[in-house]
Amino acid sequence: MKVLIVGSGGREHAIAVSVAKSPKVDKIYCAPGNAGIGQIAECVPIGAMEFDRIVAFAKEKEIDLTIVGMDDPLVGGLVDELEAAGLRVFGPRKNAAVLEGSKAFSKDLMKKYNIPTAAYENFDDPEKALAYLEHTKMPVVLKADGLALGKGVLICQNLEEAREGVKTIMLDKKFGTAGNRMVIEEFMTGREVSVLSFVDGKTIKIMSSAQDHKRALDGDQGLNTGGMGTFSPSPFYTKEVDEFCRKYIYQATVDAMAAEGRPFKGVIFFGLMLTQDGPRVLEYNARFGDPEAQVVLPRMKNDMIDVVQACIDGTLDRIDLQFEDNAAVCVVLASEGYPVSYEKGFLIGGLERFEDEEGYYCFHAGTKQTEQGIVTNGGRVLGITAKGSDLKEARANAYKATEWVTFENKYMRNDIGKAIDEA
Ligand code: AMP
Ligand code: GLY
Repeated sequence: MKVLIVGSGGREHAIAVSVAKSPKVDKIYCAPGNAGIGQIAECVPIGAMEFDRIVAFAKEKEIDLTIVGMDDPLVGGLVDELEAAGLRVFGPRKNAAVLEGSKAFSKDLMKKYNIPTAAYENFDDPEKALAYLEHTKMPVVLKADGLALGKGVLICQNLEEAREGVKTIMLDKKFGTAGNRMVIEEFMTGREVSVLSFVDGKTIKIMSSAQDHKRALDGDQGLNTGGMGTFSPSPFYTKEVDEFCRKYIYQATVDAMAAEGRPFKGVIFFGLMLTQDGPRVLEYNARFGDPEAQVVLPRMKNDMIDVVQACIDGTLDRIDLQFEDNAAVCVVLASEGYPVSYEKGFLIGGLERFEDEEGYYCFHAGTKQTEQGIVTNGGRVLGITAKGSDLKEARANAYKATEWVTFENKYMRNDIGKAIDEA
């Protein structure tokens, strides 16, 4: 069969590697893809938001299955457009992707269906938001309602910062129309865990847990980024936590979406915080996490195509989702200066080493093929993933493999997976 993947990051590269392992797949296309994806797929220069061109391409090439990796096209309704053209596609429709696309929607859903999350209020009037802050406990969390590249969340320590935050989101519109509405939410403390799942509209199957590292600098200092590294599984995701989430969060979310007439098919990513009072939902995403996908998918034993088809067909209950009994760590190699400003276009060396090393992966995020070779083309450049029999071994392997790769202004965090030592 012929598969089209929509997106261009490390997540889409990890999806492509999983898809390529399936004996059912003859050909993979990726729109727009990147240099690494280009080694196993044919990249086509069509942007992820060019819906008409994607639909036309899928029809012309008689694509059997499209997998949409990114949030923007999902929230914008690419799945609906492909379906309307009679094409098979994996991912939530627009009316279900709102689970990620609107934080106000997701908070109201959780409240209505008693899914544990932080206490909150939604606002579309900045005056009312400011008035509400006057009698709110600090610190407090402000969230722009819409998609904001993971940057629309402000943690404010005091009233002054919070007032400034309302201005930033709702008046200065720093995150654009994403800030037309906002959520003001109780500040929670605890460890964060990412849990990805496959969903077919009614059945949910949970993947192995993971943990991201969102800040740019060691010790969780510096600015928020798209994610500087991950490990899987999380040792903090215990049997008790899993039981609680299965009882109160996972199926409850799927049932809630179905009850609202928005059946969810695709991947739900649960961003959880393990508080003293038990697990709470921080956020939902309607897609694989990035870089979470880069540690979770390499450990999945099932044929990716079988699982994806079952989600589309509503037969996920017949799939026995299985993960290897090992661990994986991903260290992101970024450009010095990310996430603020950085130079691009530096030649990358050492990539061929990954071709013959079992259990090591070099997922491309911001790279470009040029006549001279593959060059850096973004803030996050590569995700270096390694497996190991346990987390410590996987971490040692991943850091060893980061040394195989060379490029000017290469930057990484040196403490990815440090929490493993505390477990
Ligand atoms: P989100 O995009 O909603 O996951 O928020 C981004 C990050 O902000 C999360 O990964 C948390 O580190 C932090 N965060 C979000 N909501 C809260 C909250 N209610 N309390 C504490 N931290 C939060
Ligand atoms: N790693 C967090 C995300 O994909 O949103």
